[in-house]
Amino acid sequence: MKIGIIGAMEVEVQALKSNMTVNRIVKKASMEFYEGIIGGKDVVVVRSGIAKVNAGICVQILVDLFDVTHVINTGVAGSLDSKLNIGDIVLSVDACYHDVDITIFGYAKGEVPQIGAVNFEADKEMREKAKASIKKVAPDIGVYEGRVCSGDQFISSKEVKDDIIKNHGGMCAEMEGAAIAQASYLNNVPFLIIRAISDKADGSAEVDYPTFEAKAAKDCAALVMELIAEL
Ligand code: ADE
Repeated sequence: MKIGIIGAMEVEVQALKSNMTVNRIVKKASMEFYEGIIGGKDVVVVRSGIAKVNAGICVQILVDLFDVTHVINTGVAGSLDSKLNIGDIVLSVDACYHDVDITIFGYAKGEVPQIGAVNFEADKEMREKAKASIKKVAPDIGVYEGRVCSGDQFISSKEVKDDIIKNHGGMCAEMEGAAIAQASYLNNVPFLIIRAISDKADGSAEVDYPTFEAKAAKDCAALVMELIAEL
C-alpha cells in the first residue's frame, strides 16, 4: 500500500509534511512530491496547485512515478447544502464537474464524453474508515457524506451556487476533487476526497474564506493523518 495525498494549496498539506518522515523529495511539473512515512504507512504528500488540470496531472504522476495504490484529496470547500456549517467535514460519495456542459449533443450535465462515468464514485471502505477516524480525533465536528462538485471557479454568488445545486445536487464545491476522481478512476486507483467547509459558496464566501481557511485545512489534515494509520 502506498497512499498519495494531494492538497491544492500549501496550507492544506503543511501539517502533513511537518508530521511525516521524509525520505526524498521529487520535483516534477512544478510540484514537489514528498515521499516518506506517516503512521507507519508509505505516503507521498504533494501540493498540486489550484484547479482541475493541476489536479489531474498530479494524480498521473503519483500513479506513474510513485505507484500509489490509494489517493486522498484533502482541503477546503464551499458548502452547497444549508445543513452544513463552516468547519464541518464532507467525505465524497462521488465527484462531478459542475463546469462541463456538452448537453447540446445529448450528454448529461457534467459528463465528459467517452469516459463511462458522469459521477466518479469514491472508495466506500476509505470513506467508512474516514468516518470512524473523525469520530476518534474530532467527535465534535459534523461529518457529512455527499457529492463533491468541482470546476475552475471559486463559487461566491448565490445564483451560481443554486445552479450547481439544481444541476448536480452536490454537498460542496471546490476546484480539484472531480479531476482527482477522474484521473484515479482512469487508473483504477481508489480515492477519497475529504473537505472541510471554509465558506458557504455565496455572497459571504469572500469574507468567510480567508477567516476559516487555515483552521478548516488543519482539521482536515488531522483527520487524514488518523485515516492513514487506519487504512
Ligand atoms: N474552496 C473553498 N471554498 C470554495 C468555493 N466557494 N468555491 C470553490 N472552491 C472553494
